[in-house]
Amino acid sequence: MQDLETIAIIPAPAEIRPLQGRFRLGPSTAIHLTDPGLEPVVDREVQRLRASTGLELPVTSNEPADIVIASDASIPPEGYRLEVGPDAVRMQAADAAALFYAFQSIRQLLPPEVECEHIRSDVDWSLPAVEIADHPRFAYRGLMLDVSRHFYEVDFVKRFIDLMSRYKFNRFHWHLTDDHGWRIEIPAYPRLTEVGAWRSETMVGNNLKTYAGDGIPHGGFYTQDEIREVLDYAAQRFVTVIPEIEMPGHSTAALAAYPEFGCHSGPYEVPTGWGIKSDIYCPSEATFGFLEDVLTDVMQLFPSEYIHIGADEVPKDQWRDNSLAQEVIAREGLADEDELQSWFIRRIEAFLNANGRRLIGWDEILEGGLAPNATVMSWRDMIGGIEAARQGHDVIMTPKDYVYFDYFQGDPASEPLAGRFGHPIPLDTVYGFEPIPGELTEREAQHIIGAQGNVWTEFISTREHAEYMSYPRAVALSEVVWSPKATRSFEGFSRRLSANLAHLDALGVNYRALD
Ligand code: ACM
Repeated sequence: MQDLETIAIIPAPAEIRPLQGRFRLGPSTAIHLTDPGLEPVVDREVQRLRASTGLELPVTSNEPADIVIASDASIPPEGYRLEVGPDAVRMQAADAAALFYAFQSIRQLLPPEVECEHIRSDVDWSLPAVEIADHPRFAYRGLMLDVSRHFYEVDFVKRFIDLMSRYKFNRFHWHLTDDHGWRIEIPAYPRLTEVGAWRSETMVGNNLKTYAGDGIPHGGFYTQDEIREVLDYAAQRFVTVIPEIEMPGHSTAALAAYPEFGCHSGPYEVPTGWGIKSDIYCPSEATFGFLEDVLTDVMQLFPSEYIHIGADEVPKDQWRDNSLAQEVIAREGLADEDELQSWFIRRIEAFLNANGRRLIGWDEILEGGLAPNATVMSWRDMIGGIEAARQGHDVIMTPKDYVYFDYFQGDPASEPLAGRFGHPIPLDTVYGFEPIPGELTEREAQHIIGAQGNVWTEFISTREHAEYMSYPRAVALSEVVWSPKATRSFEGFSRRLSANLAHLDALGVNYRALD
């Protein structure tokens, strides 16, 4: 009998039964694919296996072979069955994503040298015999990367997506705009990236009450071609990319480029210090024209059904002092500025829905009344998510006290710089996170479609630091969103993680060491 911990698959499969013996990949190993619809996944994944094993692993549609791959529509979506015996492997997948996940499980069962990009002829390419029946607990399994506060090049974004896909995450939330930088090329509005993508310097340290700048200009943006490149790359890994275009707040970079969409005449500058900014879009027809133009480009680029429009942390003072905002409140019969924000979001939602898309907003969109079809991302705590689910809205849980990967993960005295908000979030806190609050009925709980970890980057300026903050906490979250709740055990996870870290080592990931 194999020790379960030597079968170190993360996230833990729904059902797993260790068997006797090992299956050895060798020069005569061939693959029999019975469903041509799965060919693109098989081709890509076998190519990846060839790169390190150096084995030919030919794929045929007619010859019987040791490894058989088939589809099976009776398995739940994204689910697969994997039977590894001493002489044969059988993979059955509900769909193409499921087969990709079956391959990720196989990679984790193989020696970590499988992650090498050159041939390793010194390795025993065998995996333990095992029977697995697996499918995810949640449909939405996400990570967010903030590329506004610090810009990350395309190759790092791709690496981030590749890593998450290995742990069966399927949603990459790309925080593309914020006060501190606009990162997506919109050809009709060139100043967004000429002006809005750059700031003169960045504040040093994490004390928001004092300011010292580093004197180093910072910025960058993605061209539409680069975005398409990322989308193709993500699609091959069954990761849907959800773009976020912040409104009506967190918009200073856009207003620095186009002050006419703000509530005062400026001047505006892309800010260099952190914290919530008071500049917000004015609810004028010109602003809506601009935002609809931007969203039209975004929808042309991104196939995601969901478009995230932010809507968190909107100070309403400028609407209080602005005659046009007050006219809209009077004209529309709104009670106050909270209802004006709600009206703003409903209008944007109507535009997205008319184009066949759905809106996600942070939980502040509850204030002043939810837009009719909105999905809520609950970040301040779980309360917004609970309220939204009770109102029949879908919810993605991303509470800051469990899954904000910009928070310290240990004693701040011995950790690299992070924000001064909240408590440290160590690995076991992430692992202990339960996305479905106990107070929801079973019916309400159906609206919790998943959860997401957020990597805000005010204090994260290098790719090494971004990986350090994300890993291994993202690995813990992968199990929260994939594995059955009843099978979760931090002890078992920790043992499997210790083995799994060899794969992250082979990939050169700068993860934080375990305590
Ligand atoms: C957020 O952290 N302001 C969504």
